Amino acid sequence: MAEAGKSETPKLCPAVYQYGPHTVRGLKPGQKKKWCTCGLSKKDPWCDGAHKRTGFHSLKWIVPENPDASYDICGCKHTKNAPYCDGTCRERDLESEVKERQEKCLNKEKHPSCSKMCTSCGWVDF
Ligand code: FES
Repeated sequence: MAEAGKSETPKLCPAVYQYGPHTVRGLKPGQKKKWCTCGLSKKDPWCDGAHKRTGFHSLKWIVPENPDASYDICGCKHTKNAPYCDGTCRERDLESEVKERQEKCLNKEKHPSCSKMCTSCGWVDF
């Protein structure tokens, strides 16, 4: 499991759960959460273990000391400030970038036989 705040060069391309953040409220300060980095979780933005055998790992996040806070937690998996939305989902035409990357993927022929996702382009058969 990676930790929030540590910068890592992404080697794998995540799936996009949604093109925008989840606004999350009511978390307890000090609570430990695991942010989904792969985009496959059915409990997004939190990990449900769906990343197994993809090479992705959840990211550990401890809820800060601010009981009344709400947090915009990234749902596109392309933030540079995980687990928070950093605006990448709005500032770039991320949806077009993802579609283009998937159309040009060198593994495109193998997509129909992918059991979970293509980690080269983020393609997933939802
Ligand atoms: S939802 Fe990922 S950067 Fe905004």
